[in-house]
Amino acid sequence: MSNLIVLGAQWGDEGKGKVVDLLSERFDVVARYQGGHNAGHTVYIGGRKYVLKLIPSGILRPGKLAVIGNGVVVDPAALLEEITALEAAGIKVKGQLAVSNRAHVIFPMHRMVEKMSEARPDRVAIGTTSRGIGPCYEDKIGRRGIRMADFIDKDAFPALFDYLAEDKQTLARAFDIHEKVDFDKVRAQYTEYAERLAPLVCDTALLLNNAIRDGKRVLFEGAQGTMLDIDHGTFPFVTSSSATAGGASTGTGVPPTKISGVVGVSKAYITRVGSGPFPTEDHGPAGDELRKVGHEFGAVTGRPRRCGWFDVPLLHYTATINGFDSLVITKLDVLDTLDEIPVCVGYRVDGKPIAEMPATRNGFDKVEPVYEKLPGWKTSTSAVTSYEDLPPKAKDYLSYLSQRVGVEVGCVSVGPDRNQTMFVPGSRMVKLLA
Ligand code: GDP
Ligand code: IMO
Ligand code: MG
Repeated sequence: MSNLIVLGAQWGDEGKGKVVDLLSERFDVVARYQGGHNAGHTVYIGGRKYVLKLIPSGILRPGKLAVIGNGVVVDPAALLEEITALEAAGIKVKGQLAVSNRAHVIFPMHRMVEKMSEARPDRVAIGTTSRGIGPCYEDKIGRRGIRMADFIDKDAFPALFDYLAEDKQTLARAFDIHEKVDFDKVRAQYTEYAERLAPLVCDTALLLNNAIRDGKRVLFEGAQGTMLDIDHGTFPFVTSSSATAGGASTGTGVPPTKISGVVGVSKAYITRVGSGPFPTEDHGPAGDELRKVGHEFGAVTGRPRRCGWFDVPLLHYTATINGFDSLVITKLDVLDTLDEIPVCVGYRVDGKPIAEMPATRNGFDKVEPVYEKLPGWKTSTSAVTSYEDLPPKAKDYLSYLSQRVGVEVGCVSVGPDRNQTMFVPGSRMVKLLA
């Protein structure tokens, strides 16, 4: 048994999609456990680009089963659109994709509520992806939401939908918003979506547990990143789900005792989209250069990503929360031309080192990162295919990160394509994948 979780060790967009696509070769099933189409995972295979939002990146490998777990929130329109786009690109989806009957459904009302709350003058905007993710999870936790099983039940759905629509109308009236939504039209449209999605819906917890019982291997795919996790991230500037390793169990119904490893994906630097604290953000020309060279623009909203330097205290924290067995360091090639590379090795507040990640809303305001500068390697790494062949200074950089964070680097990525990746010989990662 070697079922693994792959998740983001920073603020998302670490390259999880690429890593999951790469590792899925060794697995039978790939399961998403949280988030929704706020995620955007770009994968290049032989120069061809695929963007996945809701569907696990494992779908790109013929014969692998892709599962959307109960912890995911599903926008039926977005899912159907993604299926159509993948099929148009020659990827077989039907028969390879299962959607949990316990996953909650996103409706247009959720986007409306999100727009209202983000625009409220008394609220600090989170800079969300405007996909209705937060309000859908609110309805789940508030026990009002509609799950896939009831969405595809023709008898149950209309009354449940009307109750939810009424709830949102009451909310809109309370905020003096008189935007007209034609709920009859939405109900009819979503009834049609339900019919189309029904063949994919099943008890995926049972499916996954049976697969594991039968000796199949499952890869759990995290979306977003640890610092966007609802509990452990930079609250309130987070997403509304459990992006950390614990979410893999609650979000799929596979017990922790059946999961044997956790792999953290981190860039060789760091980025963030949306608002919120970011101690190592570089507002100067070096940050602009990282954005330019790394093509740091969001796959979902197209927003420029904020860029900065590798943050050891942050990685140490996310390694603690998730129990990383190994790290994949992506986008090493983006640093290829730098003379020297700043790395944040500690946080100070009022001149004194702090050991804990701040938990208060303004706890990061006074955090000053302490940097060390490492020499750059000034050589292109994008054509390197084995770890031994990386420039010595690039290997020193990776060893330094690993030693400071306290977790091995088991895999390194030097370009967007599937084959621009190398495993570190003898690493725990290699053993976990064997
Ligand atoms: P995810 O959300 O974690 O799956 O990451 P995204 O797909 O949103 O963002 C990562 C971006 O970096 C994508 O455009 C990838 O194609 C690209 N990428 C992944 N790994 C590498 C790498 O090692 N080098 C370079 N230059 N690009 C990479
Ligand atoms: P992947 O899986 C980066 C950010 C948004 C915003 C906050 C809340 O591609 O790494 P939401 O719409 O989720 O309520 O927005 O979270 N965010 C992401 N940032 N990568 C993502 O996904 C993200 N998904 C959400 O920018 O700051
Ligand atoms: Mg992304």
